[in-house]
Order: sequence, then structure tokens, then C-alpha cells
Amino acid sequence: MYTFVMIKPDAISRKLVGRILTMIEDQFKIVKIRSKTLTVPEVEKLYAEHQGKPFFNRLMNAYADKLTIGLILEDGGDAIGKMKRLAGATHPKDADPATIRGKFGIDVPDNSIHASDSFDAFIREAAIYFEDIV
Ligand code: CDP
Ligand code: MG
Repeated sequence: MYTFVMIKPDAISRKLVGRILTMIEDQFKIVKIRSKTLTVPEVEKLYAEHQGKPFFNRLMNAYADKLTIGLILEDGGDAIGKMKRLAGATHPKDADPATIRGKFGIDVPDNSIHASDSFDAFIREAAIYFEDIV
């Protein structure tokens, strides 16, 4: 199956992209990859489920008009669940040190990586970056 990942601006500015991609490639095949500066409506689409929450403005400040990298990943099994496990807990201080957020995340919202949490989210999120999803 497939999943979508976004490498967040904090990871790009701290030059962690290579190390994060290595961790991803150890477990997945990269099907698509591109860099993209997100617009305000694209951040709203990416984080549609969080609109109206107290931290939503923080997400907008962290991601709008900033460079990100989008990936579609393939795996023989449950790519979505496996990638969420590799990403680790939302807050880096709670994340297992073997996970991407545990290794590289610094705080919220700057936890280095986003990963889709459902098939519907994968379709919506991947469409922000890629015209033909798979
Ligand atoms: O990314 P994940 O699915 O683990 O967490 P979420 O609860 O769906 O929240 C989405 C993103 O919002 C997180 O990855 C954080 O970057 C950010 N966030 C935040 O800034 N403050 C919070 N209290 C919770 C989440
Ligand atoms: Mg989430």
C-alpha cells in the first residue's frame, strides 16, 4: 500500500533531509518526491482536521510560504501504520529515540515530519503535491 509524507521546514533548515530519507528508504520504496512551497490554502487542506483548534495558527506560521518535501511511499503491507510508527509520537519529547521525531524533532509544531494517518488523508494530502497520485 501507499502513504504520504511531508518533510517539514524545520528539518530542511537544519539539513536533516538526507538522514530522514535514509531512515525512510530503509523501510519503503520512494514512488514520488518533490519539493514545494505551501500556500495558505494548501496548509489548510493538509491540516483540514485541525482548523479552528488553538494550535492551527501555529501550523500556518510554521508551514505557509516555507519549503517542504512531499513523498509518496510504497510498502508491501500497511504503509500508513508503519510510517506513523517510524515518524513517532507527535511531541518529540514523547517520541521513541528510534523514530524520526525522536531523533530529529525539537518541539511542536517543529517535529520534522508529517505522515498520513488514513487512506482518505493520504488521498487528500498527496493531491496537494502530485497530480497523478500513484
Ligand atoms: O502529526 P500528528 O498526526 O502526530 O499530530 P496531530 O495531532 O495530527 O497534529 C498535527 C501537527 O500539529 C503536529 O504534528 C504538530 O506539528 C502540530 N501540533 C501543535 O503544534 N501543537 C499541538 N498541541 C498539537 C499538534
Ligand atoms: Mg495527525
